[in-house]
Amino acid sequence: MTNSQDSKSLSQARYTRFADGYVTSETHASGSDLDRLIAIAQPARHWEALDIATGGGHTALKFAPYVKHVIASDLTPRMLEKARRHIVEVKGIKNVSFQEADAEALPFEADRFDLATCRIAPHHFPDARRFLRECARVLKPDGVLMLQDQLLPDDEPAAQFVDAFERLRDPSHNRAFNETEWTTMCAQAGFELEYSEQYIKRHQFLHWARRQGNDDAKIERLVGMMRQAPPAGREWMDPVDWGSESATFVNRHIIVRGRAM
Ligand SMILES: C[S@@+](CC[C@H](N)C(=O)[O-])C[C@H]1O[C@@H](n2cnc3c(N)ncnc32)[C@H](O)[C@@H]1O
Repeated sequence: MTNSQDSKSLSQARYTRFADGYVTSETHASGSDLDRLIAIAQPARHWEALDIATGGGHTALKFAPYVKHVIASDLTPRMLEKARRHIVEVKGIKNVSFQEADAEALPFEADRFDLATCRIAPHHFPDARRFLRECARVLKPDGVLMLQDQLLPDDEPAAQFVDAFERLRDPSHNRAFNETEWTTMCAQAGFELEYSEQYIKRHQFLHWARRQGNDDAKIERLVGMMRQAPPAGREWMDPVDWGSESATFVNRHIIVRGRAM
């Protein structure tokens, strides 16, 4: 197996195990970032949409009332099954269908979609550039890419710290990118960058750590790691009440709207 396949197998194994937690996760299901995605995308009723790495299906579910149809896709069959149950059986939504798909090799013909969304997932992909090229391929000319993912600071030691902290909590975290890297990669993949903003999400540290099945020993290591953070890394993650039951910290995300050329 190549490293890239190893990394995808690890993602699949972990999301198979933790699928339920991602369907019920408050941070994934009900963040105001979903409202920002709608406001920035300005979807139209006739649009055909693709949600990539749908996880619990929250982005597909949010966009469904605004477009004609959404395909919710993911690498992990169990995650898709959980998303389908939630969207179709619990929410009664009719215009979402489900398809297994690797973000780096999308099983769709060229020029098919008006909108591609991908929220809080590209940091798992072994090759984010390939994923962006695939988005450009399956979007119609002038199609819209809405991307949201963890953002790294420009300061290199701080960036390495933030990425390592995320990877300790979830070994299927491959890597995140800073703003310059995202804008360069989007342009290289053939997108005109129309808009970007930072979105700050504060997490309950223990919920966040346990959603990925971490035990007390791993949680202690995460607590210790934050205490040793380089100053710019600590400033970026802004831990509060650190070491207590109510500890919180922030994830910074980038939201990007790109236009396929
Ligand atoms: C944090 S969840 C995504 C959250 C979701 N997009 C939302 O809005 O709530 C990450 C998802 O990425 C999926 N994933 C990881 N690697 C992938 C790949 N190469 N292609 C497609 N999906 C992938 C995992 O199976 C998992 O369901």
